Amino acid sequence: MTDSNSGSYTGPDRVFSGVQPSGSLHLGNYLGALKKFARLQNEKDCVFCIVDLHAITVPQDPAKLADQTREIAAAYFAAGVDPSKAIVYAQSSVRAHTELAWYFNCVARTGWLNRMTQFKDKAGKNAERASVGLYTYPVLQAADILAFKATHVPVGEDQKQHLELSRDIAGKFNHDFNAPNFFPLPEPLIKGPGAKVMSLRDGTKKMSKSDPSDASRINLTDTPDQIAKKVRKAKTDTGAVPATASEMEGRPDIANLIGIYSALSERSEADIMNEHGGGQFGPFKNALADVAVETLRPVTESMNRYLAAPDEIDAILNKAGDAAAEIADPIVADVRRIIGFRGA
Ligand code: AMP
Ligand code: TRP
Repeated sequence: MTDSNSGSYTGPDRVFSGVQPSGSLHLGNYLGALKKFARLQNEKDCVFCIVDLHAITVPQDPAKLADQTREIAAAYFAAGVDPSKAIVYAQSSVRAHTELAWYFNCVARTGWLNRMTQFKDKAGKNAERASVGLYTYPVLQAADILAFKATHVPVGEDQKQHLELSRDIAGKFNHDFNAPNFFPLPEPLIKGPGAKVMSLRDGTKKMSKSDPSDASRINLTDTPDQIAKKVRKAKTDTGAVPATASEMEGRPDIANLIGIYSALSERSEADIMNEHGGGQFGPFKNALADVAVETLRPVTESMNRYLAAPDEIDAILNKAGDAAAEIADPIVADVRRIIGFRGA
């Protein structure tokens, strides 16, 4: 039993999260997800997945998919996720995901999926031509989490709605099959600095790999020079650096830069405003550029070292895939029995 709104689930705590192997990772992924993962591995049992089955909901180049998967693994390790403490594996190597996703397709209601804003954003005006997989993407996500009976899911704020759907699916399964508390109702872990890193070009839009402007984001593969340039070009206004939270109000571009500064330096926003408040943005951006470069340098370097040894990455992922299946397979076997299949 964990948090008050987790029902009366009595199983052990377990953390699960996933990152898609599509496009390069950016500062939002690092602060909103990877950095949190590295911290959590010291507190709880953690399972971290590279969700390549989710990636193919939109077209992927078969010649690149495996390398993209290794790249995310390298980013996990470079951000401090330790394969001797946490399970880090590729989703497609564990069959439990696809199997449980089908069962959950029969539990989730189309009305629930019709409300998912990420599908609407991704499918755009061409929803009729989007893959069915993109539509049921959040059902697969629920299967990821619940195949491990995960109780806690660290994600950025954009995943809040998908987590609510996972809870709804878990609750409806437990109820419909008269299996009280079989699945936990997983808790999102969203709070903390970096939960929503915004675009450097528009503080009202989230930093995203799909933004056509590369200047809108800091990629984990950017050189120090590129990082510094992007920070110096980040959108600000003609006012001074705010000295208090109220001076930051209504200034999303500025709030974003101060939030990034705080998350990267692990200093409070108040502390940063104390130092820079009242000053011009030039010196503030120089200081932020320095912090960004120095914090990300070791991450990028370590990522490149891992990427130079793809066999090592594969060995870790393979072993972890077996460990993941050892947890998930018995849970899915129980689900088959609960549903009532012959021979289950
Ligand atoms: P994705 O790259 O969409 O698979 O996202 C991987 C993880 O990064 C998820 O937990 C997201 O919530 C998180 N994430 C993505 N973009 C941002 C952002 N701009 N700010 C904070 N977290 C983010
Ligand atoms: N949908 C998540 C994203 O785009 C990735 C994801 C897939 C995930 N399965 C998950 C996150 C399970 C947390 C738990 O960021």
